[in-house]
Amino acid sequence: MTGADCSRWLLLIAIAAALCTVMLIAPVAAQQAGIKVVPAPRTAASSPEEMFKSYCASCHGLDAKGKGPAAAALKTPPGDLTTLARANGGKFPELRVLNSISGDSHVPAHGSKDMPVWGSVFRDMASGSPGGETQLRLRNLTKYIGSLQVK
Ligand code: HEC
Repeated sequence: MTGADCSRWLLLIAIAAALCTVMLIAPVAAQQAGIKVVPAPRTAASSPEEMFKSYCASCHGLDAKGKGPAAAALKTPPGDLTTLARANGGKFPELRVLNSISGDSHVPAHGSKDMPVWGSVFRDMASGSPGGETQLRLRNLTKYIGSLQVK
């Protein structure tokens, strides 16, 4: 992945974060909000709660039901991540979830060939053993989403 690709994805995170901050204060101002580019904050790979809050909640909502502050600005609404098992005959579609987070399956809003996806963001963030840390982040996020499933 090139640096340019990376900053484009980080920009998207920044837009979500900017919307998140601004919309709490003044919904009207959000439409004129300037866009500030910030790198994805570093989180503990062992803490899916922290990762979800930092990287996912702006779109999916803190409760993962798809109503994050940036959701309204997206063309495709972020899905409700708590009903994935129910929609799949009661079985949590673990592999599909893992792949859509990493970007191996092409969830369009998560990235196309032009836009990096979480797998590559996490890989860039990793130090030491990028492969292991990236897998740990993806696995822990997947497990966390699995634990949020409604019956
Ligand atoms: C910029 C907004 C945005 C962010 C940030 C975001 N998502 Fe998504 N996500 C979406 C949208 C929109 C969809 C639905 C896309 C589609 O189905 O076409 C989606 C779909 C998904 C799916 C697929 C659900 C299914 O039906 O299989 C999973 C899993 C998911 N997101 C997890 C995450 C996780 C975990 C994070 C944080 C690491 C995250 N998302 C961050 C917008 C976002």
